[in-house]
Amino acid sequence: MKNLFFGIICFITLCTLLTNTSSARSNQGKTLFKKNCIRCHSLSKSMNKWKTMDSWKKVVERMRRKKPKLYTKDEGDEIAKYLYSVRGKN
Ligand code: HEC
Repeated sequence: MKNLFFGIICFITLCTLLTNTSSARSNQGKTLFKKNCIRCHSLSKSMNKWKTMDSWKKVVERMRRKKPKLYTKDEGDEIAKYLYSVRGKN
């Protein structure tokens, strides 16, 4: 009985940890998007488009080439993931 109780507590803790890290990651993409993608044009330039994951990655990489010091390739991937999560199409 004690073991079952302990197991349930572990399970709940693990679930909380997992949800927290994944939402922290998408928050990072959102923060990076809001910080970097407003430098040259409005955010609505992206927000009125629907793209596949591949197209978002290509756009973010094309934007990065214009000003490579703004964000790294990895940060670009986080931005692409965020954009796909809110403006993704299949
Ligand atoms: C250095 C300036 C600059 C930055 C920073 C920048 N953009 Fe752009 N963006 C442009 C210019 C210039 C165009 C128009 C020419 C073109 O499409 O390459 C454009 C066009 C776009 C378009 C329309 C073209 C298409 O293929 O749909 C989207 C969407 C876009 N940007 C999204 C973003 C996102 C997302 C970011 C941040 C990751 C970003 N931009 C950062 C300069 C910038």
